[in-house]
Amino acid sequence: MRRKIVAGNWKMNGTLDDAIKLTSEIAGMYKDEINSDVQVVLSPPFPFLNSVSKLTNNTAIKVAAQNCAAQASGAFTGEVSASMITSCGAGYVILGHSERRTYFSDTDEVLLLKVRQALLNGLQVIFCIGETKAERESNSHFDCVEKQILNVLSQLTPDEFAKCIVAYEPVWAIGTGLTASPAQVQEMHHFIREVLKKQFGEQASETSILYGGSCNENNAKELFALPDVDGGLIGGASLKSRSFISIIKSF
Ligand code: PGA
Repeated sequence: MRRKIVAGNWKMNGTLDDAIKLTSEIAGMYKDEINSDVQVVLSPPFPFLNSVSKLTNNTAIKVAAQNCAAQASGAFTGEVSASMITSCGAGYVILGHSERRTYFSDTDEVLLLKVRQALLNGLQVIFCIGETKAERESNSHFDCVEKQILNVLSQLTPDEFAKCIVAYEPVWAIGTGLTASPAQVQEMHHFIREVLKKQFGEQASETSILYGGSCNENNAKELFALPDVDGGLIGGASLKSRSFISIIKSF
């Protein structure tokens, strides 16, 4: 059985106090209102990882970092290693987000190193893929997504791949209010699963594939009901506790 997952990507927002408040609100509502098998993951900025981990310690909520270094340790000023993330109590890391690919040169080559570091340190990876507007308009969206998979996920062993979750996030839908249509989402998620099956066989049937890109409390239900959608990676709507809880309850 594939896991249902809703992950909140807080990006570079808020202060420590905001993170504590948001986590406390979500944990409280989760306890009172959520009675399901949905795995909830919160992804705060690095400096807040430890506090958010401690606040969620006795709950079923898990914590993710938004990135990790491609190297294990050493003279890499400003970087944060996978082992540091693990030591702060996080169990997941988001890698390959389009903002990292676009603004911080996270190429497929670098991402493979980051994924390996994450897995070596016991983190589960939420690996983001997705095409730009230009790629969709030129009908190369399938090629783009396939390449992102082949260059990174397909390089992993089956045991490593078992620790990976895929997030399909069309770049044109991230933070724009434009959501991919249910037909576009199902078509791409099915395609992603077929590409993964070529490498990993039936194991790919167990991989959770999340949708991300302007997913909110109004459209989550329809998207989560699609056969190859196993949850969501939520940006803007994860910063409001009530919206985030509504999205979790959309399953
Ligand atoms: P959004 O972001 O929900 O604000 O579009 C999603 C993401 O970037 O993960």
